[in-house]
Amino acid sequence: MSRVVELKHPLVQHHLTILRDARTAPALFRQQARRLAMLLGVAATSDLPTRPVSVHTPLAEHQGQQVAGRVALVPILRAGLGLLDPLQELLPEAEVWHLGMYRDETTAQPVEYYCKLPAGHPSDISLILDPMLATAGSVLMAIDALKRWGCRDIRLLSLVAAQSGVERLQQAHPDVSLFVCAIDPELNAHSYIVPGLGDAGDRIFNTLGNY
Ligand code: PRP
Ligand code: URA
Repeated sequence: MSRVVELKHPLVQHHLTILRDARTAPALFRQQARRLAMLLGVAATSDLPTRPVSVHTPLAEHQGQQVAGRVALVPILRAGLGLLDPLQELLPEAEVWHLGMYRDETTAQPVEYYCKLPAGHPSDISLILDPMLATAGSVLMAIDALKRWGCRDIRLLSLVAAQSGVERLQQAHPDVSLFVCAIDPELNAHSYIVPGLGDAGDRIFNTLGNY
C-alpha cells in the first residue's frame, strides 16, 4: 500500500479554501498554489537523505548537513508549472525534467506530447508536480515514463485528488507516495474533481475552461 499523506495543517485548509473559491482571480490563484506547494514540498522531503558537511561560522567550525543524492522535480505541463518555483526555492540544486500531457476533452484519456528524459543515470528521488489527480491517467503515464528511466523513489505532490484517482494510483503503483492538500469525494461526468477547484491549468494561466 502506498503512502498517502493528506495535509491537515490549518494553513493548508486556509490557503486551499481561497484557491478553491471561484472568485479567486489568476494572480491570487497562482500565489495560493505556490504557498500550498511550499507546504507540500516540506512534507514530501521530511526524510530526504543528508550527509555531514563542515562549515565555518564567524565564530567556530560547525558540523552541519547537506542534501545528498540527485533530486528531480518533474512538473507535468501545463498546470504542474504552477508548483515548480516554490520547489526550486526549497531544492535549488534539483534537476527539472518536464513532461507534457493533456487530457483528451472527450475521453479524458491522457495524451503525451513532450518527454525528454535522458537515457540512463536516473535521479535518486523524483518529485512529480501536478496540482490535480483526477482519474489518475496522466500521473500513471508520468510514473511509467519515470520507471522506464530507472527511477525507484517516486513521490507525487498534488493540491487536490479524487478518492477514485488515489485508489487507482495505489493499485497501479503501491511504491509511489502521494502528498496532497485534500482528497475530494468524486468526479463529475467530465472527469473533473468535485468540489475540486475547476481546471487548474486554466486558472493558473488565465485561459477559459469548461467544466
Ligand atoms: C490536468 C492536470 C493533470 C490532469 C489530471 O491537466 O494538471 O495533469 O488534468 O487529470 P487525470 O488525473 O484525469 O489525468 P490538463 O489535461 O487539464 O492539462 P493542462 O495542465 O495543460 O491544463
Ligand atoms: N484537471 C483539472 O485541472 N481539474 C480537474 O478537476 C480534473 C482534471
